[in-house]
Amino acid sequence: MSIILGIESSCDETAAALVTSDREILAHKLAGQEAEHAPFGGVVPEIAARAHAEIITPLIEAALVEAELTLDHVDAIAATAGPGLIGGVMVGLVTGKALAMAADKPLIAVNHLEGHALSPRLANPDLEFPYLLLLASGGHCQILRVEGVGHYRRLATTIDDAAGEAFDKTGKILGLGYPGGPKVEAIAKTGDADAVPLPRPLKGSKDPHFSFAGLKSAVVRAHQSGEHKAEDIAASFQQATVDCLKDRLEKAIGDHGPAPHLVVAGGVAANGPIRAMLEQLAADHGMQFTAPPLWLCTDNAAMIAWAGAERFAAGFTDPLDFVARPRWPL
Ligand code: KG4
Ligand code: ZN
Repeated sequence: MSIILGIESSCDETAAALVTSDREILAHKLAGQEAEHAPFGGVVPEIAARAHAEIITPLIEAALVEAELTLDHVDAIAATAGPGLIGGVMVGLVTGKALAMAADKPLIAVNHLEGHALSPRLANPDLEFPYLLLLASGGHCQILRVEGVGHYRRLATTIDDAAGEAFDKTGKILGLGYPGGPKVEAIAKTGDADAVPLPRPLKGSKDPHFSFAGLKSAVVRAHQSGEHKAEDIAASFQQATVDCLKDRLEKAIGDHGPAPHLVVAGGVAANGPIRAMLEQLAADHGMQFTAPPLWLCTDNAAMIAWAGAERFAAGFTDPLDFVARPRWPL
């Protein structure tokens, strides 16, 4: 059994966690920055990097205290090395390198997307490879076939915005604040999903990818027309997003075949109607539906520690001169 320290700082959450290769979460700590970014309606990279730098060491210390461990007990240090806002990624990666050097432990440079992709296996010991994964967050919208640690086949990605980004922009347009996802979902509950005619970009297309930019522009126009209630726009937008995700997943299943499990990860996985659609879609194609608990869907360090544990078990470690990557496709 090994113990991995995980560090995450690629967007607007600073996080540290200690996780064992036996799936025990010994500690996980998270500091959000929503209040710092809210006045700007989105994440400001410079503010994010400074906030990570201020909190990251006390947070790691707090995780070690909670787990009643010191760095001596840790077998490896896993830090997100990209993709993400480069200032923030550098804060976490450099901190991981410094600790690895000081404690003479191996460093594991984790791709944030791999963290999301493997996180369902932390929550569910029965989840074997391969599985079909919808990874939908603020920065990414992809369908992956997860075939093993380090083996990911990307079947689809977005050609413009990510699904979470579209939720955030809709929230901003409707004056709901940042992040928009949970707020759009909340007001959509009292709205009519058929009230506002909105496009389903790329629906039925031979092209396997996602697109949300046209949907976002249509939301802007619907709002500017002054003819629709915010609740109706939110509900109609959410339904259009559900339809797009469903259509693209059906295309991926049609082209590449089903897998034993359909898995969802990323912050958008918190959305109730999206989860319900996925559950039905899985049942329709004889797949089992798996979703990590909500706290593990959004950014956190337990998923980075777990990806580190999986990579460590597979024999992967990284040199201390590993460079942070703003872009890093899986
Ligand atoms: O994975 P995550 O925490 O961070 C990124 O790596 O981006 O995902 C955050 C994204 C945001 O765009 C947020 O609006 C969206 O996930 N989100 C939701 C919901 N909760 C969070 N989108 C739709 N419905 C939700 N309930
Ligand atoms: Zn993420």
